Amino acid sequence: MPGLLQGKISLVTGAASGIGRATSLVMAREGATVVVSDINADGAEETLSDIKAMGGDGTVILADVSRPNDVAALIAQTVAAYGKLDCAYNNAGIEGFMAGRLHEYPEDQWDRLIDVNVKGVWLCLKHEIPQMIQQGGGAIVNTASAAGLVGSRRLSAYVASKHAVVGLTKAAALEYAQDGIRINAVCPGIIDTPMMSRLIGGREADYEATIPIRQPIGRLGTPEEIAESVTWLCSPAASLVTGLAMAVDGGFTAQ
Ligand code: NAI
Repeated sequence: MPGLLQGKISLVTGAASGIGRATSLVMAREGATVVVSDINADGAEETLSDIKAMGGDGTVILADVSRPNDVAALIAQTVAAYGKLDCAYNNAGIEGFMAGRLHEYPEDQWDRLIDVNVKGVWLCLKHEIPQMIQQGGGAIVNTASAAGLVGSRRLSAYVASKHAVVGLTKAAALEYAQDGIRINAVCPGIIDTPMMSRLIGGREADYEATIPIRQPIGRLGTPEEIAESVTWLCSPAASLVTGLAMAVDGGFTAQ
């Protein structure tokens, strides 16, 4: 049986860790050649070596998604190496400052968070889309969050950034629907990754107790559960799906 992404060239940003790494592996399992991109060179190389260990193929191209020249070079090098870009998963993101309420948020950290989480996704779309128009289509998934669908205390900048990702996704989906480009967002709930460990660091016991209230399924999600959804959204099996902000959150936003 051919895989869901057999023969496809797939780019993943934030691929050195967590959800991006898991998605790189699932995409490779489904037959894609994966361009593993991140700012963390060692982590990216580890992801690539995991892909190769399972018989897959790919390459590492380092890029900071908030830097226009990096993103332009990332897409140009991908196309130079493989001749096309079928799927793009714009996943790189940061959690930002967590210690206070909105009026205590430092301006420099607001700027950095918006630069990575919003401008980074916009820059990726800006450079991926012309290639996809030229080749006659493609599929893009952006990582938003349950925090892109509902509010959350002490996370105002992050919540604003992820609502922006949902908005960008919907607007872009409408603009490029007739070019054969599908653009969707995935909205993960509370997922067991290094980012989540940083967020709950030192409060593990309290946090565990609140999980069944926050996430009705009663446990953390795994990066692999997000990876399966993203891979499906990128695949021809999702051919009628565009402009969707898909919650993969164990019921978090159903409440
Ligand atoms: P993670 O921290 O484990 O991985 C994020 C990766 O992004 C890291 O490898 C990091 O080096 C990379 N990165 C950070 N800034 C970058 C930049 N400027 N350019 C390129 N790469 C950069 O985090 P995780 O949990 O895997 O998060 C992935 C995405 O999922 C993020 O967008 C995050 O906001 C989102 N998300 C995570 C949730 C969770 O519960 N873990 C829930 C909802 C959304």
